[in-house]
Amino acid sequence: MKILMVCLGNICRSPMAEGIMRNKIEQHKLQWHVSSAGTAAYHAGEEPDRRAQVELKKYKIDISQQRAKKFNAYMFDEYDVIYAMDSSNYTDILHLAETEDEKNKVSMIMNLVEPGRNTSVPDPYYDDALYATVYNMLDAACDKILKKYNLKTEV
Ligand code: 4NP
Repeated sequence: MKILMVCLGNICRSPMAEGIMRNKIEQHKLQWHVSSAGTAAYHAGEEPDRRAQVELKKYKIDISQQRAKKFNAYMFDEYDVIYAMDSSNYTDILHLAETEDEKNKVSMIMNLVEPGRNTSVPDPYYDDALYATVYNMLDAACDKILKKYNLKTEV
């Protein structure tokens, strides 16, 4: 299973989702791959926002080695599933999809927890208080990813 997490800048939400998911993959000794990207290139090459790093350190998850990169259409081939953090990320990714198969790989990450509601993970970049909220939302969503695909591969 190859999973891609996508937000706008790839320095806050999607790197947190990547770190949380990688931690669960390691705990369950799965041979899965997870990465993240941003629909914008402003922060390409940068490490995750300090506040995102600090939030995840509380859970002993180290994301300091991750580097921001921009989402590109080749990623539809590279990944099995692509999770958008919010509705504008979702729309931006879908604009780059050329086939139904590519479109079907993309979904809003919180629909795993609240199906069909299209809830966005709030952008914490301008609001420090949101990092804890983002962690809780993404931890719940990543548990669902684990259940969804791990059970499938075991049967
Ligand atoms: P992210 O947050 O999409 O969760 O990485 C943001 C990071 C940077 C900016 C916006 C959102 N920015 O405008 O630079």
